[in-house]
Amino acid sequence: MWIETLEPSPLREGLRLERTPEPCVMVIFGASGDLTRRKLMPALYNLSRERLIPAGFTVVGFARRPIGTDGFRAAMLDGINQFSRSRPVQPAVWETFARGIHYHQSDFSDPDGFHRLRTLLETIDRERGTGGRRIFYLATPPSAYPEIVRQIGAAGLAQPSEPEGWARIIVEKPFGRDLATALELNRQIAEVFREDQVYRIDHYLGKETVQNILVFRFANGIFEPIWDRRYVDHVQITVSESIGMEGRARYYDETGALRDMVQNHLMQLLSLVAMEPPVAFDADAVRGEKVKVLRAIRPIPPSEVDRYVVRGQYGPGSVGAEDVPGYREEPGANPESRAETFVAMKLFIDNWRWADTPFYLRTGKRLPRRVSEIAIQFKRAPHLLFRRAAEDLEPNVLVLRIQPNEGISLRAAAKVPGPTIQIRSITMDFLYGLSFGEEQPEAYERLLLDCMLGDSTLFTRSDEVEAAWRLLTPMLEAWEDGPPPDFPNYAAGTWGPEAAHALIEEDGRRWRRP
Ligand code: BG6
Repeated sequence: MWIETLEPSPLREGLRLERTPEPCVMVIFGASGDLTRRKLMPALYNLSRERLIPAGFTVVGFARRPIGTDGFRAAMLDGINQFSRSRPVQPAVWETFARGIHYHQSDFSDPDGFHRLRTLLETIDRERGTGGRRIFYLATPPSAYPEIVRQIGAAGLAQPSEPEGWARIIVEKPFGRDLATALELNRQIAEVFREDQVYRIDHYLGKETVQNILVFRFANGIFEPIWDRRYVDHVQITVSESIGMEGRARYYDETGALRDMVQNHLMQLLSLVAMEPPVAFDADAVRGEKVKVLRAIRPIPPSEVDRYVVRGQYGPGSVGAEDVPGYREEPGANPESRAETFVAMKLFIDNWRWADTPFYLRTGKRLPRRVSEIAIQFKRAPHLLFRRAAEDLEPNVLVLRIQPNEGISLRAAAKVPGPTIQIRSITMDFLYGLSFGEEQPEAYERLLLDCMLGDSTLFTRSDEVEAAWRLLTPMLEAWEDGPPPDFPNYAAGTWGPEAAHALIEEDGRRWRRP
């Protein structure tokens, strides 16, 4: 076992010992939606169960449906029972937590609803000691964001009314549909909130294993000297999912994999793996380095998109042992949909560290397995002493596995025991589960807590979002203006269209089998 340590995890210790925020209120817009039940409430419940948030913490669910506070609490309890990582709900923890859950019924465009919200928040401040500290969470469809932001501003809620108070806003993805809409949304938000009040969420950044990319790179001395074009042949980033649409085809038809996954999650993984060491682990320094990576990626003009980017859509097939329908047959999908459910691309980062080192990215639905990983593929040893014994030997690969089987593995060559020199590839593995125990906090737990503490390091800054869109928008434009794609072009349960293999194979390389 490689890098085996049974020391307590510093990240979890840090969470436990130093990081209790002051009581605050979180107003969730779109509280009757799926995100609140599946992710936000289970995360808040677990933070409360682990005593990481104080007793006065309060949630106000803001939505249109007339369900009342009792109905809302019951729906949230149901959601936690279904989706929380710790189940069943502990009655004593729930009772305390539920006392701080309120429901506020209003239309998002009704000024009176926001004035009533203000009165409610003032009452909560008095009764639960929340001191004018407020988080507004946009969990609605994105089309409602501008109106809600405007109404928050008009009701005077964007600036604290109390000396100890603050106001922050969390914005869910997707952040815009392209560069122009992202710029416009940033502008609309900036009319009401300062940038340091804005928390654009990308849940990948809350994953322990994603944060560990930084720790692994910058807390160890041995990797950084070889983390560049001299030693690295190329990098592969794979985020594959075996699931299909799960009832989200209507959303997905408007979105597609490039907007749903690449613009945010894959771009974040790419910037963490390629960035320079920041001068400090704080929001400005870390995000400053990440944005430099995004800006250094060589732009792909619309006329070149087909050379560097492959898109796909799944047809019927089988995943595991199960026969599954094609994308166009999913409930709610348009039978002639042009939405891509798969994207692969080759990118170059034009800076001193990475010049001419390809980064291959791929993501898709209905692929054979759920795997997220980053593979750093090193160059071959400069001189092979054991040429005959090692003809098919694969070069070293360092794999950062984000999920599942979270861990890090290094492929190296070793001698097979015996009287002759025979060489095989072996892997040295570090597994999170074995070293730190199985249970890891959910990404949303970490991110919600960070927002309460005012730490935006793991949230996306406006210039990062814009830089990612600047790179991807020409791809969307080329697809929109070009002829209809030959969809479906891969069978569910396979690793994407043929063209995705050609993209890397014509460079003399091949995709890893994760
Ligand atoms: C979401 C996407 O942001 O990420 C989904 O909208 C996708 O389509 C999900 O399934 C994947 O997240 P995770 O944490 O399961 O890898």
